[in-house]
Amino acid sequence: MAAKSKTIYACTECGAESTKWYGRCPSCGAWNSMEEEVQAQSVAATRSTGATVQSIAHISPNDKQRYHTGMKELDRVLGGGIVRGGLMLIGGDPGIGKSTLLLQICQHLGEDHKILYVSGEESEGQIKLRADRLGVVSENLFVLCENDMDTVLASMQTEKPDVVIIDSIQTMNLMEVASASGSVTQVRECTSAIMRLAKRMDIPVFIVGHVNKDGAIAGPKVMEHIVDCVLYFEGDRHSSYRLLRCVKNRYGSTNEIGVFEMGDKGLNEVENPSLMLLSGRPLDVSGACVACTIEGTRAMLAEVQGLVSPTGFGNPRRMATGFDNNRLALILAVLEKRAGYFFSNLDTYVNVVGGLWLDEPAVDLPVALALISGLKDAVISSDTIAFGEIGLTGEIRAVSNADLRVAEAARMGFKRVIVPHHNLPNIVKREGVSVVGVHSVREAFEEIQK
Ligand code: TYD
Ligand code: MG
Repeated sequence: MAAKSKTIYACTECGAESTKWYGRCPSCGAWNSMEEEVQAQSVAATRSTGATVQSIAHISPNDKQRYHTGMKELDRVLGGGIVRGGLMLIGGDPGIGKSTLLLQICQHLGEDHKILYVSGEESEGQIKLRADRLGVVSENLFVLCENDMDTVLASMQTEKPDVVIIDSIQTMNLMEVASASGSVTQVRECTSAIMRLAKRMDIPVFIVGHVNKDGAIAGPKVMEHIVDCVLYFEGDRHSSYRLLRCVKNRYGSTNEIGVFEMGDKGLNEVENPSLMLLSGRPLDVSGACVACTIEGTRAMLAEVQGLVSPTGFGNPRRMATGFDNNRLALILAVLEKRAGYFFSNLDTYVNVVGGLWLDEPAVDLPVALALISGLKDAVISSDTIAFGEIGLTGEIRAVSNADLRVAEAARMGFKRVIVPHHNLPNIVKREGVSVVGVHSVREAFEEIQK
């Protein structure tokens, strides 16, 4: 018996479904986001009989067949390159450079692989214009400007490309699904249709996804479950630096980030982010301390600034950019109660330079030192970095990857590293770098004044 199709309402922001229309989504709270959908049965629900099962001992891994994109930053985020049959979803704000990145890798990929670039947003002429600017001239790059998913799937079957790029999934449309492009049902069905074909033909597919106003990929959450990798392309609107962050990866570790800079010939890789983050910093001024954070397998140095000034009104202001406000309140409380530095009638501002967000406990100590340095007007010499977690009794606690952090400081020419005392045994001695272990915030600040 054929199932009756029924009308439901789905939120275009979070994908929540209900049988009633709401002005405000009961799940995510977005206004005016519920849209009518006709819920059809899954379009290509194929029923197979007699599936073959295999012993895992006889299955060969296909990890050797990774394609390199020619961009080391992207390869690292993907876990060492593109895996055949893998689905990679790239999300990010409009104009951040998703299309640019994907078109740019076509030049290197095109040397040995046939690429099908499907665009539902731009015309062939526009893509050609951009390709010229990026220096992409590969004979192996085939462009298809199309919104109809069935045509795209048919082209994949006839052209048999080695890599497919879909820009973007929200502009794709499956005829059988009776709702508009970009709706929850369309996006879900298009993603599963492309997934089935990609796995069957063993073709890796990049899918561009739009983001909603909260910065999450628009459409159903299920899309993120279907794909193998979810990457977010982020960046400050006012700076040309872009971070590619991985939040899900079936073929590698998450937490890896890739750093790029947008130039007039497309994206350039930034292989030395510490240099970029520290460039132009003022030397030997009070209220600044260099911190070291770990992103994936890589250590990065960044400058933390602290400003302390008398409060104009009764309530002192506490403001942090690039650092958690609650964590700042906690550090200030510890400094007052345990170390005897008083901020209660002072406005306190913390800023992490370079648009980076530091959420690691190891950043506590540099934040505290920047604030004390601002308070006492005492300069922290510019060849010093610090890291360590601050406990509620004012003690400095050990952090992970201590040696990696010291190595990065040494590479960047720093002469003195203030570390938690308990980390000292894990740190290798290096020529020209003095590593100082401290037990408390007070001790760390006294050390810095020497
Ligand atoms: P785009 O890749 O179109 O963004 P998305 O696909 O994520 O929406 O990014 C285009 C932006 O990048 C646009 O604002 C112009 C800028 N840009 C450059 O600065 N240099 C370049 O070489 C290119 C191609 C784009
Ligand atoms: Mg685009």
